[in-house]
Amino acid sequence: MREKDFDIKKPKMKFQKTERIPPTGYESANDFFEDMYMDKDMIWMGQNTNHLHDDTIANAMIEAIGEKTFCRYPAPEGFSELKQLILDDLQFEDLEVLLTSGATESLYLVMQALLEPEDNVILSDPGYFIIGDFANRFAGEVRYVPIYFEENDYKLTPKLLKENMDENTRMVILIDPLNPLGSSYTEEELKEFAQIAKENDLYLLHDITYKDFARQHFLVENYAPGQTLTIYSFSKIFGMAGLRIGGVISSKPIIDAIKNAVVNDLGVNIISQYGAIAGLKSKFEWFENMREICFENQRLISEMIEPIEGVFLPVYPSDANMMVIDLSGAGINPKDMSNYLIDKKLFTREGEYTSEDFGDKYLRISFSIPTKEIKVFCEEFPKAVEALRTK
Ligand SMILES: Cc1ncc(COP(=O)(O)O)c(C=O)c1O
Repeated sequence: MREKDFDIKKPKMKFQKTERIPPTGYESANDFFEDMYMDKDMIWMGQNTNHLHDDTIANAMIEAIGEKTFCRYPAPEGFSELKQLILDDLQFEDLEVLLTSGATESLYLVMQALLEPEDNVILSDPGYFIIGDFANRFAGEVRYVPIYFEENDYKLTPKLLKENMDENTRMVILIDPLNPLGSSYTEEELKEFAQIAKENDLYLLHDITYKDFARQHFLVENYAPGQTLTIYSFSKIFGMAGLRIGGVISSKPIIDAIKNAVVNDLGVNIISQYGAIAGLKSKFEWFENMREICFENQRLISEMIEPIEGVFLPVYPSDANMMVIDLSGAGINPKDMSNYLIDKKLFTREGEYTSEDFGDKYLRISFSIPTKEIKVFCEEFPKAVEALRTK
């Protein structure tokens, strides 16, 4: 029987993801990303990835491939050396690490293991919505708290948390520094969140994916032990996004609960683990220089934006490797801007990827790329504004 003779049965949609309209001219977001990826000349400012590494991490992986140990399965919970190096990086003691395929898998497992249908979860808007989508599968409600305002420094504050939580709030998501804005938390604020969490028996999910780009960074685990989940990624400062490795760090009882939810029971990519070990061991060699390049890159962008009427940086300096450029005062639709820039070989991201309520106001750009590429952006962006301006 040919395919068309069947009645193709559509499954019930058990889960709903935040709906994304494919970019103009594409049938799916995947086709779009594949096109971007395949274009070797595209300047990569659309994914907060890091393009500044030398060959240290790559060489460690090439060596590991040469030894061909990849034909064996790795130890299911990862190399102990790697787990210890992660704990050392965070200066944590007496905690457990679960390695996963990127921080993304950890985020999913945490939600699956810890949330119940009667729970609600607090997340900011703008924010990283994949986390909200995962929480939505297991909790009754995700409360997106609008934070795109100067009065709260473009971040979820302890005050906003108190105003938005109730007796069913089970988890607070602190993305620190925040994707997309680059706002981050002071030690005082984290202590306040910890206090609220302790008084109300909440989990604090502290996603520190961008921590190493921050001028200063603090860990809420130190103030709310036993109820914090620290989410760790090798995709950003280590420049290993395509290798898909990350993890979650927490107390033993919490990690034991999460382990029960594990899908990838045969372990995490072994080559990625060798790369991650090399990244952590060599960090002191490249870390400061890489941060300096990022600080300089965002300074150049800020200098370029300053004189443009109707356009501003809500958060500057950013504590991440990305920032938001607000275009609303110039009457520019961020989608039009990102399409325009793609024609100039500059891949950036319109706001709707990270905000329901404010996505029509801003473009998100990342700047952990060579300074000469930032200079191309700084040359093209003012021209783009003048070409698209309606106000
Ligand atoms: C806040 C945040 N958490 C997690 C991730 C994904 O991390 P990974 O690549 O390790 O899965 C991202 C990716 O952009 C992110 O912005």
